[in-house]
Amino acid sequence: MNDDLRIRLLIVDDEESIRQLCMTVGEALGFTCMEADGGESALALLEEQPAHVILTDMVMPNMSGLTFLEKVKKMLPRTEVAVMTGHGSVETAVQAMKLGAYDYISKPFSPLEELRLFLRRMAEKVRLVEENEFLRERVDTETELHGIVGASAKIQDVLRMISRLKDTHTPVLITGESGTGKELVARAIHFRGSFAKRPFVAVDCGALVPTLIESELFGYEKGAFTGAVRARTGLFQSANGGTIFLDEIGELPQEMQAKLLRVLQEKEVRPVGSNQKIKVDVRVIAATNRDLEAEYRNGTFRKDLYFRLNVVTVHLPSLRERRSDVPMLAHWFLERYARGGAIQITTAAMKSLLQYDWPGNVRELENCIERAVALGDRRTIDFNDLPPSITSAVPGDQGSDSLSSGLTTTDLEDIERATIERVFEQVKGDKALAGKMLGISRATLYRKLKRYNIGGREVSAPIQALQ
Ligand SMILES: Nc1ncnc2c1ncn2[C@@H]1O[C@H](COP(=O)(O)OP(=O)(O)OP(=O)(O)O)[C@@H](O)[C@H]1O
Ligand SMILES: [Mg+2]
Repeated sequence: MNDDLRIRLLIVDDEESIRQLCMTVGEALGFTCMEADGGESALALLEEQPAHVILTDMVMPNMSGLTFLEKVKKMLPRTEVAVMTGHGSVETAVQAMKLGAYDYISKPFSPLEELRLFLRRMAEKVRLVEENEFLRERVDTETELHGIVGASAKIQDVLRMISRLKDTHTPVLITGESGTGKELVARAIHFRGSFAKRPFVAVDCGALVPTLIESELFGYEKGAFTGAVRARTGLFQSANGGTIFLDEIGELPQEMQAKLLRVLQEKEVRPVGSNQKIKVDVRVIAATNRDLEAEYRNGTFRKDLYFRLNVVTVHLPSLRERRSDVPMLAHWFLERYARGGAIQITTAAMKSLLQYDWPGNVRELENCIERAVALGDRRTIDFNDLPPSITSAVPGDQGSDSLSSGLTTTDLEDIERATIERVFEQVKGDKALAGKMLGISRATLYRKLKRYNIGGREVSAPIQALQ
């Protein structure tokens, strides 16, 4: 089973033998098991990886089971906690139940079967109560994270489309300016869905020499033309059962458009030089940065092919239409290119990034960050580390009059706050996941949560009072 769909069980006990025993039983039940030898380390572990079910000892050296239980209930209200008690300590068990424990079991476990049934019952409860929602949602958000960064409403719409399309066979046309992430989205539709294990074949229709396109796409027989010393499988056949991604479809010559249409209608290909047709079952995702609708209207693109490909359109907004994603994307690329080094972006630099129009969209931003990391002092990225194309295009605010630049520090903070709030809500307070989504370290996330007072109860009172 997919690891993410398994019940995660955390065992907390200072006695190693007990942990081992519980792990063995839990693993036999198909759970993903984690262990901790005390309350402190368990809480740290839970920050990283929330558990669905926790089984904890009551008497432990540094933190009592009851204190631990209280803390967990605050941190992860949906997690079920059961307690293990030694013989004769029924009162503590009762106390634990009052604090929200699910149940208790006495040690030593005799017979062992009792422990097995106990754990299974707990898992069942988690499954039933949540109707798998908790698990499924987590998987969704986690996989949705996979490479597509952005919290703006526009990119969220795209993510929803991906979820809807990923398990279907519907042809999809992805439109958007250069560098908006069309290929990324095509891959996401394929790799997040039920066809993920099947082939994904990307073809750049613009890069193929017109005379070779047909043999590339449909293959050829030995001797089909000079140089065809042996038969070759076409890309359609290689993609059989999976997805073919026809990138820059607008570049396809008219003659090939007709041939492609026939293949899509008949679901079979005929290799060049062959008189045999081969059945192919392929999902087609096409992408273009051109206005195909205008092109079919003026006759440069076949109308019938246009409608065949464009059953569903996913339009990727340009980056300037969703500027609020710029900080998140910038941090994401920063993390990627700085490889662990904690580099900060100064407010002046971030302002420029937010004001720039990004004709090359996300790719341009990615290049810009990569360049700034390479040129910078490896501590901060400042205004001066940005390429002249960006700094000269915007009224640079190098710490001078911030009003003249249009965007104030307060604006920036508003954007940041809104972004973090949205992400935090989306991941239901899972900090590790939120950090991943925002592309910032956990320490930075904590600082920002406190600063903006996001996350409710977990923000301690003195800090709130300081705000
Ligand atoms: N939302 C996003 N989150 C993270 N990275 C992104 C996002 N969108 C695009 N990128 C990155 O930007 C770069 C360009 O994306 P991609 O190649 O998918 O764009 P494209 O629309 O196919 O561009 P082109 O039309 O130039 O082929 C890639 O490195 C991609 O990983
Ligand atoms: Mg592309």
